[in-house]
Amino acid sequence: MKLQGKIALVTGGARGIGLSIAKALAAEGAVPVIADINEAGARDALVKLDRQDGLAVGVNVAEQASVEAMVGAIVGRYGRLDILVNNAGIGGNTPFLDITSEEWNRTIAINLTGAFLVAQACAREMAKQRSGKVINIASLSGQRGGHGRAAYGSAKAGLELLTKVMAVELAEFGINVNNIAPGAIETEMAKYAHDQATRAAYNYLIPMTRYGTPEEIADAAVFLCSDESRYVHGHTLNVDGGFRAAGLMFRSGKATPLA
Ligand SMILES: NC(=O)c1ccc[n+]([C@@H]2O[C@H](COP(=O)([O-])OP(=O)(O)OC[C@H]3O[C@@H](n4cnc5c(N)ncnc54)[C@H](O)[C@@H]3O)[C@@H](O)[C@H]2O)c1
Repeated sequence: MKLQGKIALVTGGARGIGLSIAKALAAEGAVPVIADINEAGARDALVKLDRQDGLAVGVNVAEQASVEAMVGAIVGRYGRLDILVNNAGIGGNTPFLDITSEEWNRTIAINLTGAFLVAQACAREMAKQRSGKVINIASLSGQRGGHGRAAYGSAKAGLELLTKVMAVELAEFGINVNNIAPGAIETEMAKYAHDQATRAAYNYLIPMTRYGTPEEIADAAVFLCSDESRYVHGHTLNVDGGFRAAGLMFRSGKATPLA
């Protein structure tokens, strides 16, 4: 039990990667707080986890008042907050020439401004305690120029940089901040945003030739939430089947003798 008794907030925890992370943290002894814009989904998720000591909260991360109410509810119930997994997000796949300013603004409002609002409100509590762990869920789309990722990728690139600034400013308060950048992960978001052509392109570009699972992201999150990662700070941990590392790939396995 690496996280016994830690109060762990996971935003966007009603399903997908967030739900898997909440499950994995709870399995390590953490008290799960599942926050989602889908409040009923957050409640169902908590029932699935079968944790009477946990909490389900409705929140829209893009609205400051809603975020402050969420943090108020957590501190009101437990008196502290030890872990934030900043995971809530939306994803689309609209080409640059077609994306509207509405879609751009909505994506930035949830994926970047929302992550900032949650991180700031939580870090203010953690600073009072002089301890805490923050894991922001970024994306490989924030590191590489993927088709259809103008707004999404820009938001995630911003989140990676925000993580570095937080790491610099919050170290003195005992708050440890890192990023996880998932590659292509099999979730409802991927089902919505990835058509057959996108899937084929990913499977070609990923050395491990498959999508990742939410559980594989959750395993990385447990490490970054635990004391084992205490000197890992301001880091982005790519969990991507080698997508970021890959260059030329051919799978013939045939050696070419030296000329
Ligand atoms: N699935 C992938 O391939 C992939 C890859 C890289 C990064 N990510 C990131 O991982 C995170 C989770 O993705 P997922 O695939 O599990 O997505 P998902 O759509 O399955 O789950 C996202 C959750 O966030 C919630 N949410 C959306 N907007 C919200 C808001 N304004 N306030 C609060 N909650 C909100 C949704 O209700 C949902 O429960 C996202 O930040 C996403 O960008 C996913």
